[in-house]
Amino acid sequence: MGPQRVREGFVELYGAEPEGVWAAPGRVNLIGEHTDYNDGFVMPFALPHVTVAALARRTDGLLRLHSADIDDGAGKPVELRVEELTPESGDGWTAYPAGVVWALRAAGHAVTGADVHLASTVPAGAGLSSSAALEVVVALALNDLFELGLRGWQLARLCQRAENIYVGAPTGIMDQTASACCEAGHALFLDTRDLSQRQIPFDLVSQGMRLLVVDTRVKHAHSDGEYGKRRAGCEKGAALLGVDALRDIPYDELDAALGRLGDEAEVRRLVRHIVTENHRVERVVSLLRAGDARAIGPVLTEGHISLRDDFRISCPELDLVVDTANASGALGARMTGGGFGGSAIVLAEEAGVPSLTKAIEDAFAAAGFTAPRVFEAVPSAGARRLSRAA
Ligand code: GLA
Repeated sequence: MGPQRVREGFVELYGAEPEGVWAAPGRVNLIGEHTDYNDGFVMPFALPHVTVAALARRTDGLLRLHSADIDDGAGKPVELRVEELTPESGDGWTAYPAGVVWALRAAGHAVTGADVHLASTVPAGAGLSSSAALEVVVALALNDLFELGLRGWQLARLCQRAENIYVGAPTGIMDQTASACCEAGHALFLDTRDLSQRQIPFDLVSQGMRLLVVDTRVKHAHSDGEYGKRRAGCEKGAALLGVDALRDIPYDELDAALGRLGDEAEVRRLVRHIVTENHRVERVVSLLRAGDARAIGPVLTEGHISLRDDFRISCPELDLVVDTANASGALGARMTGGGFGGSAIVLAEEAGVPSLTKAIEDAFAAAGFTAPRVFEAVPSAGARRLSRAA
């Protein structure tokens, strides 16, 4: 849904013009999975799919939230009072924007209420960060309207607090930073320890390649326990190895570290994934800097195998995408995002896209899986203001 339609929806709902319209994108992660809560490296880029929000300030403490995508039929916004927002009191989709208002206020920012109407083209539950897009668009709009002067990475931190504490999902910082800070034509090389960032040119189209996203339609959720178990296992590994975070285990000391973990078989697998995955991010960055984007394909596939066998967060649908793609001429493929469903990415020569897409669709049909949704991902802009008051 376009910004004009969202503005009109706001006027219909609230009977006045919004003060502006903002957009924040979903993301795919090129490489660096589950490294973000281990102080490690990630490399996401923004999708063209966005959540668009129209907002106006209020000074009476009322927060009114409405989504064109999740209308209960009554056509009325959900009404909350900002001073009554408390962690984990939130419910459903409104917990994300309400959590952002809570996090801003908890950090001392005088957000006195708002009217919000939004709509999203980011597929929900597909591992493409629809939640982060929702948080970041609201955070950016409030930052502008209340003149808070916060930078993209600071907004990302507050959105992560909203998700961790208010919504109750123990996620890392990658998705919110990607939505807030990515730039068109680039992937974001982010060090999640200090949030230092480098924009790495990532233009596959001019080099005759494409990156396909395959949404398996298997819904995933991060608050359902498995994500938290992996996180706890990684923290146990860091504690057993006497480091602040698994980021502190250098790749060339991995074997020695695994040796020190003795018979902690599960922790050993988690540690091996994180340490090798950080190394894969660094390899991908070097290859892209050297202008050798084709060579990242095998690194992506290695990442998938590590997520499947060591981190154990893949599923039959994701494995089928990767195996079919690689057997049908892809340069490489892997699951992306939190796992247990969601989406995979496939790096392909432009000429191979039609046959690869068909091979994946046919394989899903033959396996009796729901038809996947396949689209090309072009690295797009991060969160931004689209318009001011009319
Ligand atoms: C989800 C989380 C992120 C990150 C990824 C896995 O998307 O929100 O913080 O941990 O999973 O890389």
